[in-house]
Amino acid sequence: MHLTSAGYAAWAKALVAQFMICPGAANEGSTFSDVPDNRKLTRQYPHSALACGKTSASLASGDSPLTMFEDGVSMRIIIQDEVDSLGSFAADLIAERVAERPDAVIGLATGSSPVPIYAELARRVSTGELDLSAVRFFALDEYVGLAGSHPMSYRAFLDEHVIKPCNLDPAQLRVLNGKAADLVAECADYEAAISAAGGIDLQILGVGHNGHIAFNEPTSSFASRTRIVALTQQTVEANARFFDDDPEDVPLLALSQGIGTILEADRLVLIATGAGKAHAVHAGIEGSLTANVPISALQLHPRTTYLVDEFAGALLTRMDFYRRERELIPGYGH
Ligand code: GLP
Repeated sequence: MHLTSAGYAAWAKALVAQFMICPGAANEGSTFSDVPDNRKLTRQYPHSALACGKTSASLASGDSPLTMFEDGVSMRIIIQDEVDSLGSFAADLIAERVAERPDAVIGLATGSSPVPIYAELARRVSTGELDLSAVRFFALDEYVGLAGSHPMSYRAFLDEHVIKPCNLDPAQLRVLNGKAADLVAECADYEAAISAAGGIDLQILGVGHNGHIAFNEPTSSFASRTRIVALTQQTVEANARFFDDDPEDVPLLALSQGIGTILEADRLVLIATGAGKAHAVHAGIEGSLTANVPISALQLHPRTTYLVDEFAGALLTRMDFYRRERELIPGYGH
């Protein structure tokens, strides 16, 4: 959901009201500042003082403070040691979406980072906890020149990690065709297909060592759309591990959703693990907006959750603050 500036104004007004007046048993009529220790209050109530109930006419009927937070206006940064627990957090977000809408549209990323997410989805499907049978999936990108049947294609990767282990119909996943006779038309068709599906509800993202998202290399425009892109030598070398460590075998061109396309997804969930991602994560979350660091574009999106392990988060300077926010804000990251 993208809030308009009027929407933000209403949200901010409601939030201020939420802090100031907290009707309900003990706190009726009291202001937040009347409470001697708001940390104590936070612990006293299940969802902190902020979850004490509807407060004023500025909250629309049916809105709860939690759903107000769900609209999000900040980056949500989840830092955990265990990579599996990051996968589980992302799987929860996907499951929430699918519970709201069984035919949700989920965007999938390739690379090793999202594998724990896909493993957890497969586990939940196998136990019957999760039903993905009506979900529609779109991939972020594909190598030019590789057919979907090529073992190193992203189609093959997603078939192996998502479609097969989750018992899905391959037709549920659309991937750009890197062998299309007309690559420009293929990109235009892909954009049209995403629009026809109603847009992406939740997009999973990884990040390259140089800060790329999908295959949007540094200097990709924040307004870029699905298109043919060239890969940097750094990316070719990083991805050689999937090609028997031979950079010569890595295609030099790819088709990729643009940054502008990605920013239109309703929710973004980026997972980054390992020390090799520390610079990209730091620059993306705490650095300036710049086309030289494509991940930084996500700062423009109102609902991005960053799932980061200790190594990828090692250069973040506000770790304590992110942990504090998570402790204090109900539904943080959801
Ligand atoms: C590729 C993909 C990206 C992915 C990146 C990182 O370049 N196009 O979508 O984020 O690899 O991959 P990994 O998670 O394996 O480090």
